[in-house]
Amino acid sequence: MNDNEMIRLEPPGSLDMAIGEAMFTQRAIRRLDPDRPITDGQLRTILDAGSKAPSGANMQPARFLVIRDRERIREFGALYHEAWWAKRRDEYGWSDKADIPEGSPYRMPALLADEMVNAPAVILAFSLPSGVAAASTFPAVQNILLAARALGIGTVLTTLHPQVMERVHAMFGVPQEMAFHCCIPLGFPRGRFGPTVRFPTSRTTSWNDWGNPPPWT
Ligand SMILES: Cc1cc2nc3c(=O)[nH]c(=O)nc-3n(C[C@H](O)[C@H](O)[C@H](O)COP(=O)(O)O)c2cc1C
Repeated sequence: MNDNEMIRLEPPGSLDMAIGEAMFTQRAIRRLDPDRPITDGQLRTILDAGSKAPSGANMQPARFLVIRDRERIREFGALYHEAWWAKRRDEYGWSDKADIPEGSPYRMPALLADEMVNAPAVILAFSLPSGVAAASTFPAVQNILLAARALGIGTVLTTLHPQVMERVHAMFGVPQEMAFHCCIPLGFPRGRFGPTVRFPTSRTTSWNDWGNPPPWT
């Protein structure tokens, strides 16, 4: 196969969850079971689903690095922990959990900073440099989250911090020109895919003119 050859894929039989169920139950899963492995076949299905996403002119700039090796996940987990706290330091001046106010939405993400080392797999999403790199990568990322959900695998979309990026590139030999977009730990949940809450679309949608509510308001 040459570098530019494209392939068609049939939908994998394992992705048989109704799309509505997958979309409406997909949520951030931060407690991942370190003892229940994800197979390479499941990861392939998840990445194949990502490959089916739209991209500008079908140029498909997204590139994924899958971290499977336990020791490397542990090393990456330490960088993730540093990155997460660097973001909180920049935004709020926090340096440890005691600084996070009661009821803050950052309490669970702080837990992920500790849990990353236990993830059975981590996907880092990069792209070739292009004018629409992020816009052409996140549809694939969303497909990845949904496909994982359909397989019963938990994920959470998260980011890093400039403070660690050089070390992340060096750790995995990622060429400098590759743009980093996000990081997705994967694992079977310790717990369940509980319900999510969101703003009603009547609040987030305008109809014909900005500020005009939709008919279901
Ligand atoms: C751009 C972006 C950055 C995020 N960063 C983090 C993060 O640093 N840590 C984390 O635990 N979750 C992170 N998340 C996950 C969100 O917190 C989560 O999607 C949101 O709270 C909704 O969660 P739910 O689907 O469980 O309701 C991020 C999500 C996005 C889209």
